[in-house]
Amino acid sequence: MDMISTTMWYLPNIGYSFLALLIVTLIALHYYIETSRAIRLILKLPNPPRVPILGHALITLNMKPEYLFSKAIEFHHQLGTVISAHLGPRAFVFLLDPQDIEIILSSSVHLDKSVEYGLFKPWLGDGLLITSGAKWRKHRKAIAPTFHMSILKTFVPLFYQNSLDLVNRLREKVGQEFDCHDYLSAITVDILTETAMGVSRKRRQNTSYEYAMAVMKLSDIVHRRHYDISLRLDQLFKFSKLAKMQQKLLDTVHSLTENVIKAKWKDIEEQEKRGTQDDEIKSEKSTATESTDNVNYTKLHYVRDDLDDIDESDTGEKKRLAFLEMLMDMKKNSGQMTDEEIWEEVNTIMFEGHDTTAAGSSFALCVLGSIPEIQARVHEELDSIFGDSDRQCTFQDTMEMKYLERVILETLRLFPPVPMIARKLNEDVRIVTGNYVIPKDATVVLGQILVHRLDKHYPNPLVFNPDNFLPEKMQQRHYYAFIPFSAGPRSCVGRKYAMLKLKVLLSTILRNYRITSDVSYKDFILRVDIILKRGDGFPIKIEPRKPMSQTGVTIPAQA
Ligand code: HEM
Repeated sequence: MDMISTTMWYLPNIGYSFLALLIVTLIALHYYIETSRAIRLILKLPNPPRVPILGHALITLNMKPEYLFSKAIEFHHQLGTVISAHLGPRAFVFLLDPQDIEIILSSSVHLDKSVEYGLFKPWLGDGLLITSGAKWRKHRKAIAPTFHMSILKTFVPLFYQNSLDLVNRLREKVGQEFDCHDYLSAITVDILTETAMGVSRKRRQNTSYEYAMAVMKLSDIVHRRHYDISLRLDQLFKFSKLAKMQQKLLDTVHSLTENVIKAKWKDIEEQEKRGTQDDEIKSEKSTATESTDNVNYTKLHYVRDDLDDIDESDTGEKKRLAFLEMLMDMKKNSGQMTDEEIWEEVNTIMFEGHDTTAAGSSFALCVLGSIPEIQARVHEELDSIFGDSDRQCTFQDTMEMKYLERVILETLRLFPPVPMIARKLNEDVRIVTGNYVIPKDATVVLGQILVHRLDKHYPNPLVFNPDNFLPEKMQQRHYYAFIPFSAGPRSCVGRKYAMLKLKVLLSTILRNYRITSDVSYKDFILRVDIILKRGDGFPIKIEPRKPMSQTGVTIPAQA
């Protein structure tokens, strides 16, 4: 009895000591965070209410992606275009003013992605999207020319053939409501496999839809981990159900990309067996008709980057290879690329190249379905290009799709597939707004989805108006007020590919169908995920159409 009471006597003391230690640790942590230079500097910027130590972490704890956008709009209305936050000792600054964004994106110092991108590593390895320093420079230099206009032009027949396959597949859906994103994500995977990856049709596997769905779920997990602090730490995450799910999804995704790599090696082997004949044809194709078309095409975009330099300084003498062929060539002939690096880049391009354009084309169809006048103008333009003919679409045709181009750009404005991006600052930056200083190592988040809705740059910003992209309107606007592909040295390497593919894909669908949608584009529930989606899906209906000349439909006046 005495023994027990003696032992029990110590227990409260241990408890008190533990409590005291905890309190001292928390006070020390609080002091450390509050006095750190980065937190002191970012707290001078407008920021929402916070709690000690955790800072603003509780704002997004357990929040569903559907609510993130409305929360962001609320803070923007309350606090303006520069907002800071901290999660413990980590400092974040959200920038929405194009002048401030230009300072970050045009710089060659702030090229590194924020640590959040590290959560992609099990999926994409250290590929172009995430990597930094010398590796990024070397890979960017190798990959950017593989999306050169002369190569993209050779993709047009493949874009068209796959788009036509989709048109045929959609026949079973005529008159019914269906989710167009399901179809568009599978077709964009097929298109990438045949173009950038250069895998012949006969070797293509029937797993595109499965891959696309796995990618959607994987992005969802990675994104939840970005903003929900309870899922962030690897040490805790690995015991969660989500970690098991992630592993299964990774198996699905990697099995497709590994098959793509194997199939391409086989294609190359076969080509070599057949001799040099194919190579000669290909080199003729890829160096064909250059300059004037390229120059005209690139005028479309007005934040110049290395892709413009590559196209405009092209003499047409260089033999160019498409993406995967180039990487394999670098491995075989000069040892400049390893198998692991090829694996990383294939995973990166398969993800960045398909999910973004699937979202962009799905939003475009849903918007057109909800604004018949604008759809009628697109139909009118397509009829003026193709008449009654069902001939295939050519590169020259895409140059004439001026109105469709404006519709695509306006879709990317209101519904940018990549709604926000983030960089880690490599040195202090003084921004224009408020003359604030953002400290080195802070994470800067650039929210294009909100930038594109600033009424300072777009009158009636929530109204879908393709004429926002008339040349005279574009010239008057700040360059960085439209950044769906980011901008500067680290901009999207696939933007010209994406625009060309979107034009061929959408024009082929719209030559064959009229789209209707019961939901106005103003009522879309936006899900600000890594790639922007609709929380309510992408439901549309389609009906076959004939050219206007045959239907007698009159064209409404300009929207
Ligand atoms: C509408 C379609 C597309 C949109 C809106 C888009 C948007 C973007 C954005 C905003 C970035 C910057 C990401 C960041 O800084 O975190 C980016 C980077 C990138 N995109 Fe795209 N993209 C599209 C299509 C494509 C396509 C078709 C490809 C490839 C075929 C591609 C490949 C890449 C790659 C590899 C990067 C990383 C570049 C680097 O860091 O040097 N994208 N894209």
